Amino acid sequence: MASDVVPDLAAGVTVDRVPEGGMIQGKVGNENVVLARRGTEFFAVGATCTHYGGPLGRGLVVNDTVRCPLHHACFSLRTGEALRGPAFDPIPHWRVERLGDSVFVREKLTAPTRRPTAASMRGQKLPASVVIVGGGGAGLAAADTLRREGYDGPVTLISADADPPYDRPNLSKEYLTGKAPDDWMPLRPPSYFTDQRIDLVLNSPVASLDVGQKRVQTADGTTYAFDRLLLATGADPVKLPVPGASDSQLSYLRTYADSRALAAKAAAAKQVVILGGSFIGLEVAASLRACGLAVHVVAREKEPLERVLGHEIGQFIRGLHEAHGVVFHLQDTISRLDGRRVILQSGTSLDADLLVLGVGVRPATGLAERGGLNVDRGVVVDEYLETSTRGIFAAGDIARLPDPRSGERVRVEHWVFAERQGQAAARNLLGSRERFDAVPFFWTRQFGISIKYVGHAQSWDDTVVDGSFEAKNCAVTFKAAGRTLAVATISRDLQSLQAEVAMETSSRADREPSS
Ligand SMILES: Cc1cc2nc3c(=O)[nH]c(=O)nc-3n(C[C@H](O)[C@H](O)[C@H](O)COP(=O)(O)OP(=O)(O)OC[C@H]3O[C@@H](n4cnc5c(N)ncnc54)[C@H](O)[C@@H]3O)c2cc1C
Ligand code: FES
Repeated sequence: MASDVVPDLAAGVTVDRVPEGGMIQGKVGNENVVLARRGTEFFAVGATCTHYGGPLGRGLVVNDTVRCPLHHACFSLRTGEALRGPAFDPIPHWRVERLGDSVFVREKLTAPTRRPTAASMRGQKLPASVVIVGGGGAGLAAADTLRREGYDGPVTLISADADPPYDRPNLSKEYLTGKAPDDWMPLRPPSYFTDQRIDLVLNSPVASLDVGQKRVQTADGTTYAFDRLLLATGADPVKLPVPGASDSQLSYLRTYADSRALAAKAAAAKQVVILGGSFIGLEVAASLRACGLAVHVVAREKEPLERVLGHEIGQFIRGLHEAHGVVFHLQDTISRLDGRRVILQSGTSLDADLLVLGVGVRPATGLAERGGLNVDRGVVVDEYLETSTRGIFAAGDIARLPDPRSGERVRVEHWVFAERQGQAAARNLLGSRERFDAVPFFWTRQFGISIKYVGHAQSWDDTVVDGSFEAKNCAVTFKAAGRTLAVATISRDLQSLQAEVAMETSSRADREPSS
């Protein structure tokens, strides 16, 4: 930002105060507004992200969009529309007028009207009906996009979950600590589904898929015909048998109901043992420690999260947890449960009122397999997110998709990436041929520290650390053969956005033929 003084944008500012390709923050009446510049064009939009209220003025202007520094939502500077998850709702926008060397923010403009689909504009035949199986991040984003693109036909969203689509990442964070009340959790209010004519069918696992007849059947025998289908069934926690333990003694965390049950058990517990140094395991550790429980984490790795984030960040995370009193038992695992004593393979014995397993997830591909789709460690899709059967798409944690950067097929388990796949799949269901080339992004938050990660590195041969873990301010770049695969940042949100844009640009440049 160019200045510390908050300018009154309605009273006007001189053009040179707004950096080219950048923005300044100011006020219009009582509202915080960012004024952005792209060449001779100026844009004024609301300064607060509609996802979790992130400060857009500290984000990044990219062409005619602004990106949020917290979880990389992307808004149009022209209309305020939320273009990419995790935000769904638009930000306000204002008319800007240039007079001489000054620009003035004038009246607020109305919310953007829906754009017709590219497909209908080209006169393509739109699907007679769309069924979406899975009411999570990808499923909801797809349903929302169908309507925003102007699709008017029947949309049915079928979910095995009893709860309407909710903010899954929050289940291990603020919700578990009690800081997020229940009314924060739904992604959309109940009226949304009625208003948008989205037929939301809850508590209804789809048991079979008949691709020939183009219909799915739920466990209670109800049949739904579709013209186009999206599978977005997500993933299920890996269940490990623990000798001596009954099912009721083991807690897993995937659903809202799981989180409510875990919070209730934690309220009556003093000590918890968590098996697994995964993101979910560690977020649960941080949340339950914040609730005052004694927390032990048992994990096979040398450092938690080492496989995904490397040794340095693993060490940092362990230090962060230990500074808050979490006790690690690394390169170890549970051998059995004896009453309320957890016996580790090393022979260590720990008291536990609660045992949580966070040892990873498996993609929920059973339905796709039964339907005869190509499944190989995930539902195999092409760059348009279409499965091996035409007219059937897959998105989110179940999809195994081509990664334009590495050329390999990848399956990614991130919230924002799942939503963006849902959005792209919806447009492709309608007939757009949109290559899905978004850069994977995830964040984790533990003991007040956020780590942001862009890109995807299954393996790497070099890491470059810029900054200091001690100061909790650094970026770690993961490289293979000199090429940047991923960047993890702590307290460097702008750098994370810049890394995302650099990866987007490089993969598009790779695809374009050189002149
Ligand atoms: C506790 C927790 C915290 C997380 N935190 C983060 C985070 O901080 N950052 C991040 O990037 N990612 C996070 N993730 C991962 C992220 O939530 C997932 O990547 C994301 O939810 C995937 O979206 P999805 O739509 O593919 O699947 P899901 O959101 O899991 O949705 C799948 C849906 O399909 C339904 N379903 C499954 N099978 C059937 C069937 N046969 N019939 C009908 N419906 C079915 C389910 O009921 C569910 O509604 C977290 C995950 C969990 C569990
Ligand atoms: S607060 Fe803006 S993307 Fe989350």
